[in-house]
Amino acid sequence: MFPLIRNRRLRKNEVIRSLIRETIISPNDFLVPLFVVEGKGIKEEIASMPNYYRLSLDNLEKEAKELWKMGLRSVLLFVKVPDNLKDNKGKEVVNPKGLMQRAIKTVKNACPGMVVMTDVAFDPYSIYGHDGIVENGQILNDETTELLAEMSVSHAEAGADFVAPSDMMDGRIMTIREALEDEGFIDTGIMSYSAKYASAFYGPFRDALDSAPVDQDNIPKDKKTYQMDYSNRFEAIRETNMDIDEGADIVMVKPGLCYLDIVREIKNEVDVPVAVYQVSGEYAMVKAAAEKGWVDHDAVVMEQLTAIKRAGASVIASYFAKDVVRILG
Ligand code: PBG
Repeated sequence: MFPLIRNRRLRKNEVIRSLIRETIISPNDFLVPLFVVEGKGIKEEIASMPNYYRLSLDNLEKEAKELWKMGLRSVLLFVKVPDNLKDNKGKEVVNPKGLMQRAIKTVKNACPGMVVMTDVAFDPYSIYGHDGIVENGQILNDETTELLAEMSVSHAEAGADFVAPSDMMDGRIMTIREALEDEGFIDTGIMSYSAKYASAFYGPFRDALDSAPVDQDNIPKDKKTYQMDYSNRFEAIRETNMDIDEGADIVMVKPGLCYLDIVREIKNEVDVPVAVYQVSGEYAMVKAAAEKGWVDHDAVVMEQLTAIKRAGASVIASYFAKDVVRILG
């Protein structure tokens, strides 16, 4: 009791504070999302994501080497699929010479030790911008999980260490796990986007990949029939437990900052590593406010990422990963 107990004794100076600090961020915590495009010599800044780029394979190779040198050793690949290769079936998804398959090989050739994770979802390949095959205004579940399993095998064949299904179809982890086992990819991991909410924070990402749901009659303009309602908590636990039962090695909560209650709850509930995705809209908001001089960019970045780790994240997917290495010096 006060005055015998004075909490400020432990805050007296930075040495004491750092001695008792509970949460420390390091480059090892990060998974770096990368956007890949066709072409040569391309490094296009994404308008709604300042200082973040779409890279052609030659620049992807350079970026991978730079990340490796900085101590950032896990990447999460996304591809921007040319319009003429989009359909509603997934023909391009399993093309062994597709952009994703070449991107995996490019990173693995440049940095064999780099952990390569791949986005497994149909939206960048879909003429409708949905994560599944669309029929009569519905996003089909079981047909889509079959496609995602083929996609996962194709990524594993190209050399992916982990596939990361971000689609939120029911039962896809089991379908993917079984397909990987059948094809002998027993060591290819699955990082499941288990509790992925239908969020307005994905806007800049959909700009980056030109993958927003189309505005067309009879096509849902949002992803609320498969991504979770942000009002819900118990559902996140159910989704996550199901994915673990089906074979997920790592589970994810997404987005980050608005969902740290969910992260903590899941962390307390499960015994597999929990990942958090600090998404594009979160990145864009910090960049915009910092550009205006309204917040201190580096301080806000570190505070948010430390909060994500404190909430229970073992893996953090973040567009700020390189900033963090710079800030940590
Ligand atoms: C699509 C996918 C999305 C993100 C990752 N995978 C967008 C969506 O679900 O529409 C969002 C990532 C971000 O906003 O940074 N399967």
